[in-house]
Amino acid sequence: MNLLLALLLGYLLGSVPWGLLLTRAAGLGDIRAIGSGNIGATNVLRTGNKPLAAATLALDIAKGALALWIAGSLWGEQAGLAAGFGAMLGHAFPVWLGFKGGKGVATGGGVLLAAAWWLGLGAALVWLAVAATLRISSAASLAACAVAPAIALLAGRYDLALFSAGIALLVAIRHRANIERLMAGTEPRIGRK
Ligand code: G3P
Repeated sequence: MNLLLALLLGYLLGSVPWGLLLTRAAGLGDIRAIGSGNIGATNVLRTGNKPLAAATLALDIAKGALALWIAGSLWGEQAGLAAGFGAMLGHAFPVWLGFKGGKGVATGGGVLLAAAWWLGLGAALVWLAVAATLRISSAASLAACAVAPAIALLAGRYDLALFSAGIALLVAIRHRANIERLMAGTEPRIGRK
């Protein structure tokens, strides 16, 4: 029962579409009509408003971490992980947006960071390294997600390896269009439309 409650709590927190709310509040229109159409920080950056992109990133990370922390301290570690996964589902499939949401990278980062700081940090470092090299956000996201389960495995945390593999799968599914553009060589660089 607690796991279901945790999943629901996580879903509700994760379903707050910060990128959409912030860009609307700033008078930039509907972020879903700009660039990739995604509601995440990478696409908010395409509006040219860097503070807004940073705020989107921070709030999307925070909602994932918060879901895990709240449920974890109320009902224990398993419930924390359930809430973290719920936050991913809420971000990717928010009821408020007709179940068409984001790709879950920042939220997933927050979830991993809250699950184990070294796992979130490791994934973030991979993201930064690939982004600095290729200047392509989606490639960095996919690489970070692919490496996260391996980091958990190396640390002997098989539960977190399985958990981060689940997150990676969801993120990869949400990046289908990006993967097609990456293969076609048409994926835009960070900050470009
Ligand atoms: O965090 C999402 C990123 O990996 C891709 O975003 O807007 O380029 O599809 P976008």
